[in-house]
Amino acid sequence: MCPPSHFEVTYSINPWMEPDKPTDAPLATVQWERLRALLVTLGHRVDVVSPRPGLPDMVFAANAATVVDGRVLAARYRYPQRSGEEPAYQAWFAEHGYPVLRPRYVNEGEGDMLPTGTRILAGTGFRTDERAHAEAAEYFGLPVVTLRLVDPYFYHLDTALAVLGHDEIMYYPGAFSPESQAVLRELYPTAIQAGAADAAVFGLNAISDGRHVLLPQAATHLTERLRAAGFEPIDVDLSELLKAGGSAKCCALELRDQESS
Ligand code: ARG
Repeated sequence: MCPPSHFEVTYSINPWMEPDKPTDAPLATVQWERLRALLVTLGHRVDVVSPRPGLPDMVFAANAATVVDGRVLAARYRYPQRSGEEPAYQAWFAEHGYPVLRPRYVNEGEGDMLPTGTRILAGTGFRTDERAHAEAAEYFGLPVVTLRLVDPYFYHLDTALAVLGHDEIMYYPGAFSPESQAVLRELYPTAIQAGAADAAVFGLNAISDGRHVLLPQAATHLTERLRAAGFEPIDVDLSELLKAGGSAKCCALELRDQESS
């Protein structure tokens, strides 16, 4: 995770971002700190990357890479406004002894690449280049399922789909092309499907450890469905970060180290 010390909305690279609307970095930091403390309380280790000035989206650590079995596929951002984050996160991985591959194609890390226990679900359409999916499949030696995003408000896969457990997901069908909706129905016939209202408050941008699911309480139906399915939903309010088009999941890049999995 990376604290939102320099958080603001100074440019617009997704429809949620309105640079004219004021932001409050101290409030963002309070909300972020609550999320960090909650993860620690639940027994997870949280490493913190130093924020750098001039990189207001650096708080969205999930976009920095995809990590599977200790191997790191770094990000290559679509927009120049975020490319300064690449060396910052790569340096952290290098300092901590992780092997890092810099990708050839645009790849926004766990924003668009969501590993399940058996495969990687990969988004494309707005940010990550479809060719990056094959690159990830080759690097990790895992099957990668390409999913096409069609609604600009759900520009990253992790805004429309969350991995809940080994082979369980929840998603908002409206964010995907008809073909990708069919793929999801086929692969996950029993998945929890979210409606437009829960998706619009970033209910799908959730962090799950297989039991606890951290999501905004405003996603009321989703919260009920998760509880009915045996999960423990926990409310996290990241209203400030929503102004940049991000919420809980965007803030945490999963390292999947043996000890924390
Ligand atoms: N402003 C950021 C962007 O548009 C938000 C990133 C949110 N992160 C995420 N994992 N969806 O790139």
